[in-house]
Amino acid sequence: MKHVCVLGGSGFVGSAIVGKLSLSGYSVNVLTRRRESSKHLILLPNVTVQECDVMDDIALSNALKQADAVINLIGILHNSKKNSFKSRHVELPKRLAAICSKLGIKRVLHMSALQASNQAPSAYLKSKAEGEECLRRTKELQLTIFRPSIIFGRGDGFINLFASLVKLLPIILLAKPEAKFQPIYVEDVAQAFVEALDNTDTFGKSYDLGGPKTYTLRQLVAYVAQILGKKRIIIGLNNFLSYSQAFAMELLPVKLMTRDNVRSMEVDSVCVTSFPSFLSFQPQALEAVVPAYLNDDTPRAAFNRFRARAGR
Ligand SMILES: NC(=O)c1ccc[n+]([C@@H]2O[C@H](COP(=O)([O-])OP(=O)(O)OC[C@H]3O[C@@H](n4cnc5c(N)ncnc54)[C@H](OP(=O)(O)O)[C@@H]3O)[C@@H](O)[C@H]2O)c1
Repeated sequence: MKHVCVLGGSGFVGSAIVGKLSLSGYSVNVLTRRRESSKHLILLPNVTVQECDVMDDIALSNALKQADAVINLIGILHNSKKNSFKSRHVELPKRLAAICSKLGIKRVLHMSALQASNQAPSAYLKSKAEGEECLRRTKELQLTIFRPSIIFGRGDGFINLFASLVKLLPIILLAKPEAKFQPIYVEDVAQAFVEALDNTDTFGKSYDLGGPKTYTLRQLVAYVAQILGKKRIIIGLNNFLSYSQAFAMELLPVKLMTRDNVRSMEVDSVCVTSFPSFLSFQPQALEAVVPAYLNDDTPRAAFNRFRARAGR
C-alpha cells in the first residue's frame, strides 16, 4: 500500500494516524471539507490535503483515483438534520464501498465504535453498526474495522470536556456515573491502524480496542479533578435526572451532551475480547499520559506560567 487516502484525517484521531503514516513513508492524501482545518498536516512529509465534499459521489470518486488504500474516520456524535447519523455513518460507508469497488481499491480500514450493534440502545451505536454492515456486504473489499472505547490524548473531546467542567464548577452533577469505559490512547489507536494497513491477517476482521483498565465515569471525573488539584463534589444523577439533564443540554446552542449520548452509556464501553494479538505493543495507561496534557506541559504553556508569575 503506497498511496493512502484518509477521510476525516484532520480530526483528533485522524491527525495521529496521518502523522504515523507519514513517518512510515506512506504517501497520504487527506480529504477535508475545509483545508484550513488541516493546516497542521500540510507540513508533514508525503502528506497532501485536498478539499472534497465526501458526500458527493463524483468528487469522492475523483479524490480516490490514485489510492491503494482508504481509511474512513468520519464520524459525528450528535445527530442533526444537516449532519445525520444515517448520512455520515451509514450512507457514506455504503457509497464509499461502491466507489472503491468501482475503482478497484480493495483495502479499506474503517473506524466504528465499541458496542456498535443493531441491538444497541442509542442511534449513534446502531448507525455505526449499520455502517459496518454496509462495508462487510461488499465482499471484494479487504476490510478491517476498529471499534474503540473512548479515546484519550492531547486534544481529546472527553477528558478535556470534564477538565473544563471541573475547572468551572464546584459541584459536578454527573449523568450515568456508573457507566464503564476502557479508555485507549490515541497514539495506540493510530498505531493499530498503521500496523493493520499492510497486514493481510487483518483482512475481513473487526477489532475492539480498549486500554489496560476499566473505569466508571465517576472515577474518571474524580481522577481529572485530582490531576487538576481541584476538590470537587461529584453528585451522580439517577437515570431520570441523567436524561433530564441531557434534554436540558440539547436546548443549548452548543451541544455538549444529548439523550442519545446518555443512551450510549446504557451499555458499558468495555471490550469482551483481549487486545488484538497482531499488534506489536500493549496499550498505554491513562495515568501515564493524561497528567502531561491536563497540566499543559508544553513549552508555550511554561512561558505563560512564567509570565503569570512575573505579573505580566
Ligand atoms: N474520539 C473518540 O473517543 C472516539 C471513540 C470511538 C470511536 N470514535 C470514532 O473515531 C472517528 C474519529 O473520531 P475523532 O474523535 O477523531 O473525531 P473528530 O476529531 O471530530 O474528526 C472527525 C473528522 O471527520 C470529518 N467530519 C466531521 N463531521 C463531518 C461531516 N458532517 N461531514 C463530513 N466530514 C465530517 C472532519 O473532517 P473535516 O472537518 O476536515 O472535513 C473531522 O476531521 C469517528 O468515526 C468516531 O465516531 C471516536
